[in-house]
Amino acid sequence: MALQRTLCIIKPDAMEAGKSGAIVARLQEEGFSVKGMRQLHLSRAQAEGFYDVHRERPFFGELVEFMSRGPIVVVALEAENAIEKYREVIGATNPADAAEGTIRKLYGTDVGENAVHGSDAPETAAKEIGYFFAGCDVRPSA
Ligand code: CMP
Repeated sequence: MALQRTLCIIKPDAMEAGKSGAIVARLQEEGFSVKGMRQLHLSRAQAEGFYDVHRERPFFGELVEFMSRGPIVVVALEAENAIEKYREVIGATNPADAAEGTIRKLYGTDVGENAVHGSDAPETAAKEIGYFFAGCDVRPSA
């Protein structure tokens, strides 16, 4: 399996709870290397743009409201098999269904406020990383 990248977003709920440091430390302990990291506060338009694929879903308005509520941290991560590995570490979308010890189980509240975002495929990850980072911020690995 080749090196892959994935995008982690530490969402406003986890930021408000002061868990960004714990989450980044956990991801590094799990073997991910941090290729880029920034803190920002999304406008509604930026949150809508990021989650455009969910525009027709009934929870879209709630999702945009939440994601623009306060600061977030976006982290471009790299590891072998990063997409699947990261999804295992964060757990199911709904923290109630997430396995014990996963990041969403530890820090998430409900399906809307679930502490972190994860990319679902390498193509999505590349698009999502490009949404937040310029190419020169996240140089290709040698
Ligand atoms: P995320 O990994 O950021 O990708 C899309 C997000 O939509 C997801 O995590 C959830 O936070 C949110 N989401 C998915 N289903 C629901 C739902 N039924 N109600 C509210 N938010 C949802």
